[in-house]
Amino acid sequence: MTSPEQVVVVGASGFGRECLDVLEAMALTGAHVEGVGVVDDGPSELNLERLGARGVSYLGTLAEWLASETLPRQYVLGVGSPAVRRRLVVRLEDAGAQPFTAVHPSATFGACVDVGEGVVVCAGVAISTNVRLGRHVHVNPNATIGHDADLRDFVSVNPAAVISGEVIVGEGSLVGAAATVLQGLSVGQGSVLGAACLVTKDVPGGVVVKGVPGQWTEYD
Ligand SMILES: CC(C)(COP(=O)(O)OP(=O)(O)OC[C@H]1O[C@@H](n2cnc3c(N)ncnc32)[C@H](O)[C@@H]1OP(=O)(O)O)[C@@H](O)C(=O)NCCC(=O)NCCS
Repeated sequence: MTSPEQVVVVGASGFGRECLDVLEAMALTGAHVEGVGVVDDGPSELNLERLGARGVSYLGTLAEWLASETLPRQYVLGVGSPAVRRRLVVRLEDAGAQPFTAVHPSATFGACVDVGEGVVVCAGVAISTNVRLGRHVHVNPNATIGHDADLRDFVSVNPAAVISGEVIVGEGSLVGAAATVLQGLSVGQGSVLGAACLVTKDVPGGVVVKGVPGQWTEYD
């Protein structure tokens, strides 16, 4: 039997531990993968307790991990913020670490879905046909991604959000929980769609959208 691919999760907070859930579910359904522990530069006591309660090791800071000659170099980024993720990836690439792509076995995919490196897809996500997920895109539980959608690098889609068909979501944008983007629209780079907003027209980059229908203001 081949030994499992060993993966380090970066981040001890909520999303980091949800990434452990994804890796564990993959292993339970036969994938040869093992989350060996979590690295974090400043984990809270509470998050360390939470890791301990599920029997997962805290492996130290990122610098300690990257200096180690025994820990695996593959990682999943358990960090919800697109901007923080982008900064971390630069550092991890410089150090020669490699992103692992983690997809929960309960997620469903249509044909011709292009999945970039470092993508994380959580439980219950439905991805339609001819979708593109760029590098380090995160799709949280029960979100829906419509046909022909294009989610550019470092996009985060929070739980139960709905990206309709042919939507383009610009690099580094965050789609809040239960937000809906109507079909064919585009969202510029680095925008934040607030929780439960309804996007009814194209959104420029660098704005925060709230409400139904969504209205926006410049991002601070
Ligand atoms: C919109 C958002 C980015 C914050 O924007 P912000 O302007 O910094 O918000 P603030 O917290 O300073 O609140 C400012 C005002 O916006 C309102 N507001 C905040 N989020 C809102 C939302 N999603 N929809 C409508 N109004 C919202 C607040 O009630 C407040 O109103 P008030 O001025 O009348 O009191 C954030 O609230 C949000 O929705 N983020 C998505 C988070 C998410 O998906 N969480 C789930 C994680 S799993």
